[in-house]
Amino acid sequence: MNPKFQAPKGVSEYLPPRSNLFDYVSRTLTTPALAAGYELIELPIFEDTELFTRGVGESTDVVSKEMYTFEDRGGRSLTLRPEGTAGVMRAVIEHNLDRGQLPVKLFYRGPFFRAERPQAGRYRQFYQFGIEAIGVNDPYLDAEVIGIAYAGYKKLGVSNFSLHITSLGDAESRKRHREDLVKFIESLNLDDETKNRAAKNPLRLFDDKRDDVRSKMQSAPLLLDYLNQESMENFAAVQAALKSINVPFEINPRMVRGLDYYTGTTFEFIHNGLGAQSGIGGGGRYDGLMETLGGQNLSGIGFGLGIDRVLLAMETEGCIPENIRYVDLFVIPLGVAAQSTAFTLVNQLRTAGFVVEQSFGDRALKGAMKAADKSGARFSIVIGDAEISSGTVELKEMSTGKASSVTLSALASELAKLS
Ligand code: HAM
Repeated sequence: MNPKFQAPKGVSEYLPPRSNLFDYVSRTLTTPALAAGYELIELPIFEDTELFTRGVGESTDVVSKEMYTFEDRGGRSLTLRPEGTAGVMRAVIEHNLDRGQLPVKLFYRGPFFRAERPQAGRYRQFYQFGIEAIGVNDPYLDAEVIGIAYAGYKKLGVSNFSLHITSLGDAESRKRHREDLVKFIESLNLDDETKNRAAKNPLRLFDDKRDDVRSKMQSAPLLLDYLNQESMENFAAVQAALKSINVPFEINPRMVRGLDYYTGTTFEFIHNGLGAQSGIGGGGRYDGLMETLGGQNLSGIGFGLGIDRVLLAMETEGCIPENIRYVDLFVIPLGVAAQSTAFTLVNQLRTAGFVVEQSFGDRALKGAMKAADKSGARFSIVIGDAEISSGTVELKEMSTGKASSVTLSALASELAKLS
């Protein structure tokens, strides 16, 4: 026998029946964005490597350690997308979407790639649902974006999480803070690699996982204390707007997002039952990204929600609805004539809007009934020669075993009545 293959290390895969839940989660997270007028953008999985080094930032783990970068046959350096915002911005600029009505409101769903150390909830290929609202800087838009993520979790019944928010302020506030933070960091006794990191983006040190760096950073100056009047008012307006739509939050001035493009409002949704990989979604405003990528100077805000982690959160919370995969009817034909009758009947019922499965092959009744059971169908019918000649079938409710006679021509209306 030839050796079997295995999936590459650390990728997430979804097979039935769990894949039904995956589909349900990604569709449900999308509904609040659709209700707010966001439109689909479908982008390539790989992009020019420089889009990420310039857009996401070289001080980040994502760019410095985790990118899947390869050379294509034409000698171009390409990278499997580690996140969605840079690609969306590239497309908006390339196709002049920012020259029309603003904000441009887009959503995307799909796989993303980061060469992280795999563990529960952390994968090398994972899935995000994301939105971006580009071109308008308005605290109500910040609150809309955060509210859309919140509504998605709530729709799924996920509740054991908290929303952390902070503000990185405007350029002036960040500059004043940076000066003091750099001075503070210079006073610390740090290794060269950490110093280099800090030179690229001193905020990164707030995110250092090592205990000694963490404790050294305890007394570091916090950006929130450096917000100027305008930035403070903006952040207060975001908070008021969130309160007005009943989105609870806590302010976390030490929160640092893993990507360098953030400015202004930033946020993270942290689940309390997932252990180390607790971030089920995050995002924020990015003032300079469009210009950095060669576009005009417009602000934007968005989020990415980790579909894999939301699914794990639902499993830990036990809030998985029954009947995610709903089948109305399972049809079992017995014999050659019945196969053809069943085939056209099933097609008619599907066209009428019912979810219908049928058994295939020369299956004995017992095996076919097992398949009907396994399908989770609400009803089943058996069609044999006798049923064809009488034009009547026994419509059996699978959960109770109760059956009633129904003519084939009345089957659709009977199913509609019962559903
Ligand atoms: P991010 O925080 O890097 O943000 O990722 C968003 C979410 O993706 C995380 O909260 C997490 O749920 C999920 N995630 C990230 N890495 C992994 C992984 N290795 N395995 C499983 N899930 C993962 C962004 O990507 C930004 N582009 C979000 C954004 C959009 N900001 C503004 N617009």
